[in-house]
Amino acid sequence: MVQRETWATRSGFILAAVGSAVGLGNVWRFPFVTGEGGGAAFLLVYLLFVALIGFPAILVEFVVGRKTERNPVGALMELGGNAWKYIGGVFIVTGFVILSYYSVVAGWFIRYFLEGFTNSYTGHLAGYEAAAEEAGQPETVMMFLDLSTGLDAFVFHTIFMALTIGIVALGIRRGIELAVKVMVPVIIVLLVGLAIWAGTLAEAGQAYSYYLNPEFGVIVENWTELLPAAAGQAFFTLSLGMGVMVTYASYLGEDRNLGKDGGIIIGFDTAIAFLVGLIVFPIIFTAGADPGQDTVGAIFFSLTEAFAGVPGGRWLGLLFFGTVSIAALSSAISLLEVVTAYVIDEKGVERWKAALGMGGVIYLLGVPVTYDLIFLDLLDGFADAILLVFGALMLMILVGWIAPNFAIEELEKGIGDLGQLGVAWIWLVRIPIIIVLVVSLALGIMEY
Ligand code: PFF
Ligand code: NA
Repeated sequence: MVQRETWATRSGFILAAVGSAVGLGNVWRFPFVTGEGGGAAFLLVYLLFVALIGFPAILVEFVVGRKTERNPVGALMELGGNAWKYIGGVFIVTGFVILSYYSVVAGWFIRYFLEGFTNSYTGHLAGYEAAAEEAGQPETVMMFLDLSTGLDAFVFHTIFMALTIGIVALGIRRGIELAVKVMVPVIIVLLVGLAIWAGTLAEAGQAYSYYLNPEFGVIVENWTELLPAAAGQAFFTLSLGMGVMVTYASYLGEDRNLGKDGGIIIGFDTAIAFLVGLIVFPIIFTAGADPGQDTVGAIFFSLTEAFAGVPGGRWLGLLFFGTVSIAALSSAISLLEVVTAYVIDEKGVERWKAALGMGGVIYLLGVPVTYDLIFLDLLDGFADAILLVFGALMLMILVGWIAPNFAIEELEKGIGDLGQLGVAWIWLVRIPIIIVLVVSLALGIMEY
């Protein structure tokens, strides 16, 4: 047996886990699914989901990884028996599907980062004026439509995937750990600044009531749509349901307090998504647009609008889109790492071959998305509300019912005696969480 790698530094694990969690799920996906879900109603269901299901679920992934010290497929087989390798297979497929389009969207961020150099957020978004007039749409929208598909999208998808493959192939974690250390504070400072600025916009008040003031009638009426959407977003944004956190915890020593680590990851992730909403909705309302419309481009239209409107917007834009590109990279690495670790561990393939082979296939799967955004909707809808929820549900069944004996003990390592809290955790997993996930999954499948 080869000596398994462990984290280089004490903070390596938490940095990598935060790096995986914080990404396009917060900046790109959160505002548009919140818009589709009607604003505050979605936000409330999502926050409840993160706290009541996301937190217990991240602990489940941690204990499975740290206990077995294996990739997700091997871990499931060790705990559940041979048949569980098929469930592990679903995790790998999920990684394939998510990374394929994630890379395309990340490419858009790189492209918008480069726009900062030609200063296209400011002035009249040079070049889109005529097209905008003709289509009766704002220049910001024309710019997004132009850049999000076609040659630009293809080129930047290629670049982003090449970077992801390169880092995973070389097994460089140290650089990424460092990047995360810088990136998270930069993102938060930028977002807080932009949120304050957005608060001064004409329709900020209206936007806040849309985003922050839920009508319970709306939740009751729309729960069949809100539930699977919130479940999908919660798992996506926390990198749960396909074994990323299993994999990262598998390289971990026994002295870490997993409860605290889970809380930190969830806290940062949720705060960042929440701040993005405080920026995007005031801009959308002030522009007179419909927050439920033009969804996948929402963050791009509204931020080009913002960077065109604030002093120094060009440099803020560069910094913002650049930082988000790095955040996307640290998430993409975690996705490819799961797939690669599986091939290395279970098939005995060399790291660089595994990363290149798997990454290459994922890259090809993403190419159609650069051609037509219809593929983005198809892949994203399938991956989030179905594959991730299914994966999370299976992990809950495994740890709640099939192999429950190790879990509390494993969690207590590094924390100390949890008493009734540990028992409460397992029972939460066993019944209420499993019921909610079964319902979410059924609704998600019907919706799809
Ligand atoms: N959590 C990442 C984000 O919010 O952008 C995306 C992601 C990474 C999802 C890893 C799933 C995953 F396994
Ligand atoms: Na996230």
